[in-house]
Amino acid sequence: MPLLFKKVKDLRNYLHGLKCERGLSVGFVPTMGYLHEGHKALIKNSKIQNDITIVSVYVNPTQFGPGEDYERYPRDLDRDMAVCEELGVDAVFAPTDEEMYPEGFRTEVYVKGISEVLEGKFRPGHFKGVATIVLKLLNAVQPDRVYFGEKDYQQLKLVERMVRDLLLPVEIVPVPVVREPDGLAYSSRNVYLSGEERESALSIYRSFLLAQEMINQGERRSEVIKKEIERFILSHPHVKKIDYVEITDSELNPKDIVDKGDRILVAVWVGNTRLIDNWKVS
Ligand code: PAJ
Repeated sequence: MPLLFKKVKDLRNYLHGLKCERGLSVGFVPTMGYLHEGHKALIKNSKIQNDITIVSVYVNPTQFGPGEDYERYPRDLDRDMAVCEELGVDAVFAPTDEEMYPEGFRTEVYVKGISEVLEGKFRPGHFKGVATIVLKLLNAVQPDRVYFGEKDYQQLKLVERMVRDLLLPVEIVPVPVVREPDGLAYSSRNVYLSGEERESALSIYRSFLLAQEMINQGERRSEVIKKEIERFILSHPHVKKIDYVEITDSELNPKDIVDKGDRILVAVWVGNTRLIDNWKVS
């Protein structure tokens, strides 16, 4: 089993010896747990590129809005420890709320602009919670490399911005979206979906294939492609609503005319489950 740390002080003591005395490199994978193949891809990359791999498991309350799924978010630390063991993770950091947000906590990190668009429009305060906890976790672990999935593309871009702006001495390694064999992006939230809802959720991936096919056939107008994606996804029975379909360049600036390397980003409600996904145009 990997070592399990609940306190920053204990984690730091452990890492100090490895980094300072033995000169080992440290890779870090921040997660909210309930680990799946997406998380595993991040961990495997870290294992290849670093001597030591640390995984954090922490459902961060400050990135959930009122009425969101904080309480029902799936949690199973024993299962996560077993997954980490299987992959050869060296240590898991699973702090308590008191450890991360002790009495008197008052500091927040706010990345302007990027926190307000796309996800930020529908989840006010979400990215302030993300930026704050990611900075805290990076300060606790002080890794050489940190791994983020492109599944949460805006989160990746936000963290890249924060790391540059605050001169954090860490390399960010992006990892492409990992999908189930039928195309549904792995997510801890997929457990909320019924069988029928899951079938409707596949429309997201299929809409990306449809869009890519339109682009391959020469269509480059974002408006036309976005309309078709919306029409297709909404034609599925359990899709309740679409929060957004957006086409941007790789830095999240909206595009009217689509080019290779641009991103299609969507957020869709299937039943009571909100799913996000994105596609790199090729
Ligand atoms: P969580 O949703 O658990 O995701 C942890 C990491 O796994 C993120 O970098 C996410 O992009 C990546 N990931 C999730 N599903 C993936 C998939 N299908 N393919 C590739 N990567 C995937 O993101 C968070 O937790 C939190 O916001 C966190 C950064 C831990 C801060 O609380």
